[in-house]
Amino acid sequence: MFGKRPTGVSSTQKLRAVPSAPATEPATAPRPSPAPNLAVVKRDEPSSPPPPPAPVAQLITTEQPRSDDYYQTKSMVFGALIEAIDVSQLAKLDTESAREEIRDIVSEIIRLKNVMMSIAEQEDMLDDICNDVLGYGPLEPLLARDDIADVMVNGAQKTYIEVSGKIQLTSVRFRDNSQLMNVCQRIVSQVGRRVDESSPICDARLPDGSRVNVIVPPLAIDGPALTIRKFKKDKLTLDQLTKFGSISQAGAEILKIIGRVRCNVLISGGTGSGKTTLLNCLTRYIDDDERIITCEDAAELQLQQPHVVRLETRPPNLEGQGQVTMRDLVRNCLRMRPERIIVGEVRGPEAFDLLQAMNTGHDGSMGTLHANSPREALSRIESMITMGGFSLPPRTIREMMVSSIDVIVQAARLRDGSRRITHVTEVMGMEGDVIITQDIVVFDMSTEDANGKVMGRHVSTGIGRPRFWERARYFGEASRLAAALDALEQKAQTA
Ligand SMILES: Nc1ncnc2c1ncn2[C@@H]1O[C@H](COP(=O)(O)OP(=O)(O)O)[C@@H](O)[C@H]1O
Ligand SMILES: [Mg+2]
Repeated sequence: MFGKRPTGVSSTQKLRAVPSAPATEPATAPRPSPAPNLAVVKRDEPSSPPPPPAPVAQLITTEQPRSDDYYQTKSMVFGALIEAIDVSQLAKLDTESAREEIRDIVSEIIRLKNVMMSIAEQEDMLDDICNDVLGYGPLEPLLARDDIADVMVNGAQKTYIEVSGKIQLTSVRFRDNSQLMNVCQRIVSQVGRRVDESSPICDARLPDGSRVNVIVPPLAIDGPALTIRKFKKDKLTLDQLTKFGSISQAGAEILKIIGRVRCNVLISGGTGSGKTTLLNCLTRYIDDDERIITCEDAAELQLQQPHVVRLETRPPNLEGQGQVTMRDLVRNCLRMRPERIIVGEVRGPEAFDLLQAMNTGHDGSMGTLHANSPREALSRIESMITMGGFSLPPRTIREMMVSSIDVIVQAARLRDGSRRITHVTEVMGMEGDVIITQDIVVFDMSTEDANGKVMGRHVSTGIGRPRFWERARYFGEASRLAAALDALEQKAQTA
């Protein structure tokens, strides 16, 4: 009976049609030819033939593994459902109405086929089926969880997540690589792209703002690799970071002042070390009357101020045209009368333009970059500029850095998964050909406790006045800065 069109299911005439290329789950094949008077709407889906029938069940959660019976029933119901509706039409409805439609049909199928099921089981199955048809299949429960930072799918059989800084294997599996490929395709088609052998790398964004990267065979050898950096709706604040111990109270106070008094800041750190989070935190202390322009590869920052223009880069299209790079954005920005320019991630020649902007009256500009220490951040900027084809002598580039960058904040993800701010460092000047820096706050790692948790504290390095002291005074923050520096100093002495 599996795969046959159920007779008498009639509650949803408007959706009734033979599905086109299966937008979601592979239906059973062979399928009957389309009824002549029913619209078959094609969605942007892979043109490859539908994969062969197979049990649809694949979500095995650690919490409560389901019985084989459940999966058998589900795949039977699923097959019947796919036969009964036009999935592409369904996708046009909003989630609630689509769910209602599916609920109606599924209950009718269950009734017609005399399936014995409790209401609770029926609800579970309905959820599962909706996830497969409307959402991202087995990934759906992971995407719904707020505590997950990243989801990493390495082929159909292995899905990892990052929770509280630690990577763990989940029991989520896809039926096979073609189901995974379908999910990838569904994600990227939402932003008008596609992945296949001819364009096997793709960046996309989920409707909730999560960033997605897909790389598929032949480049990914063991099946499609899907990486999702989950978008956190409630972005962390500096006060929360203080609670987590990422920075001390006094350190946070200094960062707030740095954000407010228009220091030019670079935030440096490894992947997933919390750079973007920190940048977002710092922007909270920008005054409401400043005109801010943000440039990002995928809009992640959430500025609270009223006067913000958000810009996003664009990758080239299939023909290799239409690319808008970060450098294009930053340069254009300069013609938009910004007061502050915020660059999500500096990775190439835009470094030069950002430094120029910082240097020419756009104080308080900020950006993040990938480096493991403040010193490395400086040499990375230098090489970005050199590699960008600017034929400037190293000394000139360094002078430019010294006159534009005020502070480098270093973020790190430590062995135990915790994220800390390890340095707040000032760029002081040049001695000969060398840039001189000075740490204002450093994280002094002492030991690990029995659970492998890294212990340590944020200490001052005993400097009297940072270079941005005058700036703080100008903005009326001198006494606050002095108090924060004192607090830092005292803590260092008592500890
Ligand atoms: N100090 C912190 N403590 C706990 N979690 C953090 C902290 N900073 C960032 N995170 C979380 O870590 C993940 C990665 O942060 P993100 O700022 O995007 O990193 P990056 O930009 O360096 O790649 C996010 O889910 C974020 O919420
Ligand atoms: Mg980031």
